[in-house]
Amino acid sequence: MGKAPLSEENMPNAPKPPSKPPNPVMRPQANICDYEGSNYRTEFWENTGRAYEDQVERIALRRLLPTQGRRLLEVGAGFGRLTNEYHGYDQVVLLDYSLSQLQYAQEHLGRSPRFVYVAVDAYHLPFRAGVFDGASMIRVIHHMADPRAVLSEIRRVMTPGGTFILEHANKRNLKAILRHALGKQDWNPHDLAPVEFVELNFDFHPEYIRDELQAAGFAPRQRVPVSFFRVPTLKEKIRTDWLVNADSVLQRTGLLVTPSVFVKNVATGDTPNNMALANDNEDIEALFANPSNGGPLVREGDVLVSSETGERYAIRDGIYDFKAPLED
Ligand SMILES: C[S@@+](CC[C@H](N)C(=O)[O-])C[C@H]1O[C@@H](n2cnc3c(N)ncnc32)[C@H](O)[C@@H]1O
Repeated sequence: MGKAPLSEENMPNAPKPPSKPPNPVMRPQANICDYEGSNYRTEFWENTGRAYEDQVERIALRRLLPTQGRRLLEVGAGFGRLTNEYHGYDQVVLLDYSLSQLQYAQEHLGRSPRFVYVAVDAYHLPFRAGVFDGASMIRVIHHMADPRAVLSEIRRVMTPGGTFILEHANKRNLKAILRHALGKQDWNPHDLAPVEFVELNFDFHPEYIRDELQAAGFAPRQRVPVSFFRVPTLKEKIRTDWLVNADSVLQRTGLLVTPSVFVKNVATGDTPNNMALANDNEDIEALFANPSNGGPLVREGDVLVSSETGERYAIRDGIYDFKAPLED
């Protein structure tokens, strides 16, 4: 049997795909790749020979991010590996389905109003429309069975003209092209359709992603190929800084044959801009909306309450938990 593609699902104690949605009414259309309690940080990133991937992703992000912004939504922030790259933004909302990943991020980034931690399924964002002028989603969309639904949700909460940086796993990468040409891989990397190589782990064609972004209300701009040298033997034999420098140069070629692609997008259309609802970082709760119906929420002690539906969402040690309403 061939080696499985390099991806997050190959690590020990990998996230369990998929979890049953805790509230089927709120999440009718999609399963979730659940990282709750997984050792993603220690087993995938720390001392595992992925310094190269980490550094080249940061280079791509720096290339594409605006130097300044007001409020950025980091979708699938995980343990906050990349959050320090968003220093040009006044406020960063780290959003993830996994409470334990967010708890770790909070321990390291702290509790200042500059960082807001929100646990929720990204298909149902608990925000009013038009409240972010920046967003990013890195190494997350490969877990999404319905990319357009999640991209549309992200677009809804952004202001027109806002910048969204998306990273996606690229099915049309050199290794897949070669394997297909040699008859060692049955799926065709040039087909637009996503390939689900492990349950809830998808590789996407760059043109498929571009179409989905446009359908969701984004104008894709620059596309940056990343991780040209994601090959274990190369990484073992060649100094990381040399590989990183070479990748940085090759990123400029725009040759979309790498396992990872970063896309810079501008939010288009005449949609609401509600940034002014929270001019101050402390006013973040004015931006929340009930993820089940979009209605208003009011804080009562350590819960946010919907007067329309009676649903209540917990605030657990400074983390807003919208994964499911509290049970009575
Ligand atoms: C591979 S990790 C990437 C984390 C981070 N972006 C990084 O690059 O280090 C994928 C993250 O997406 C989150 N995730 C997966 N499906 C999600 C969903 N439906 N809603 C919110 N977060 C999700 C997981 O909990 C996990 O933290």
